Amino acid sequence: MAPVKKLIVGNWKMNMNVHDASIFVHKLADEIKVHRDVEVVLAPTFLALQPVSLQIDRRQFKLAAQNLYWRDNGAFTGEVSAAQLRGLVEYAIIGHSERRHIFREHDKDIRNKVQAALRNNIVPILCVGETAHERSVGEMLEVIHDQLIGGLANVTSEEISRIVIAYEPVWAIGTGKNALPEDAEKAARAIRRQITHLYGEAAAKEIRVLYGGSVTADSAATYLATGGVDGLLVGGASLTVPSFAAIAAEAHTGEKR
Ligand code: PGA
Repeated sequence: MAPVKKLIVGNWKMNMNVHDASIFVHKLADEIKVHRDVEVVLAPTFLALQPVSLQIDRRQFKLAAQNLYWRDNGAFTGEVSAAQLRGLVEYAIIGHSERRHIFREHDKDIRNKVQAALRNNIVPILCVGETAHERSVGEMLEVIHDQLIGGLANVTSEEISRIVIAYEPVWAIGTGKNALPEDAEKAARAIRRQITHLYGEAAAKEIRVLYGGSVTADSAATYLATGGVDGLLVGGASLTVPSFAAIAAEAHTGEKR
């Protein structure tokens, strides 16, 4: 089996307009080296995907949508479908905690979005993770379990290898509070156990599991060296060139698994 490529995803959220995004990518391109063992993925606003796609070298950067709608087309004012993103992005972030908690997305929406991405040749990055309250009452693993069951309900054993799972504890997102590497490891192991149970050992070995939540250039190496963690989903620290470039460089130099 080919070694798993490490994945570094920059989730820009609702930051940067098209012009800013283009300047940022231009600067970033000078700082990030192309490595066969690392994939660097940028998730700008929908608006910037098309212009940025014309600007990047696909060996250096891949693109991700931050969200998508699960119907391919029709009367869904304001939505963007996986069919419309097909060919433009390699990945789509699905079920991010901001989507779940601010926009009230439920497992059914998330599972439909996972299906829509797969049917349109887009790799879903399915996000799971517990809130501070769920953690305080000891439900971290139950929440991960339930969100995986919810998101993967219709995923076949052929499709599972095309999915990425991101463990993002809600209390660690944008808060500056990192999960301990032990927590990230515990979550990654629980995710793999469940994938083993649902799809077998080969699928569990192959699936990529990311950690996300207040990752910085200083903490990136620790997470990347954590057992079972194949990459990072980075929010705040992906918005400045030096910090995101430093994180990508760590992915290349660090040892894993
Ligand atoms: P953060 O965001 O790195 O700013 O915590 C991570 C994310 O939301 O994906």
